[in-house]
Amino acid sequence: MFRRVDETSVDTLKLRIEDREYAVPVGISVAAAVLLCGFNKVRNTPVTDSPRLPYCMMGICFDCLMTIDGIPNQQACQLEVRENMKIEVQQGAAELLQQR
Ligand code: FES
Repeated sequence: MFRRVDETSVDTLKLRIEDREYAVPVGISVAAAVLLCGFNKVRNTPVTDSPRLPYCMMGICFDCLMTIDGIPNQQACQLEVRENMKIEVQQGAAELLQQR
């Protein structure tokens, strides 16, 4: 569905999306990485369980909420990929984590 316009070689890093390892270009957002890796959803809505994908890619719509490194409700379009990041599709409304 999505592919890079610039096909020249770029530095990559490895991360995990839904327990599968992928190599993605350094410097892209988590949302771009998920789309580049061919995923067709980043979360399911809490009420109707509808699959959602990133929409605005600039932090406005909140359709890109994912669980990243065990922390739910992360805006995937606002976070840059990091080596060994663990990215999971978010199911419904995630519980808010208690601050210590
Ligand atoms: S895609 Fe809209 S806030 Fe992330």
